[in-house]
Amino acid sequence: MSSLKVTLNGERTTIPIDPSWRLLRALREGAGLTGTKEGCSTGACGACTVLLDGQPVYSCLLPAPTAAGSEITTIEGLAGADGRPHPLQQAFVDHGAIQCGFCIPGMLMSAYAYVRDAVEPDEASVREALGGNICRCTGYVKIVDAVLEAAREGTSRGGMLQ
Ligand code: FES
Ligand code: FES
Repeated sequence: MSSLKVTLNGERTTIPIDPSWRLLRALREGAGLTGTKEGCSTGACGACTVLLDGQPVYSCLLPAPTAAGSEITTIEGLAGADGRPHPLQQAFVDHGAIQCGFCIPGMLMSAYAYVRDAVEPDEASVREALGGNICRCTGYVKIVDAVLEAAREGTSRGGMLQ
């Protein structure tokens, strides 16, 4: 075994890994954070999406050692310290945008980056931002509605995700 030093959900962390692992396995097995899901393992579904230095990446494709020294945010890092859901998570709940839930952690990480950066949110740009995250259940409409509402509320308040 080897180790991977990162900042994980805001805390400096050393994760035990095998150097052959991808980041997804390091998070799930090394760090015990199983919120990030494994779908295709080939970069096709987005279930494994996390933020690496603020940008969405497919953690199933990234060799774990290449993440050394980076900041990683997973779904476990979205909720507030008081345990309340993040406003973006709440928007998904309010819109009924979750069915089986398997895609949702990855979907939320891509959506988080979109909402954080959106200047003039609209449906087309939401769909583009979520284009790498596949959902087999919801038909996407409620997901897009939730993200759009969160983005519009965020920009009107000067950034709800700061
Ligand atoms: S599990 Fe990584 S893209 Fe599907
Ligand atoms: S809610 Fe089931 S795959 Fe998206």
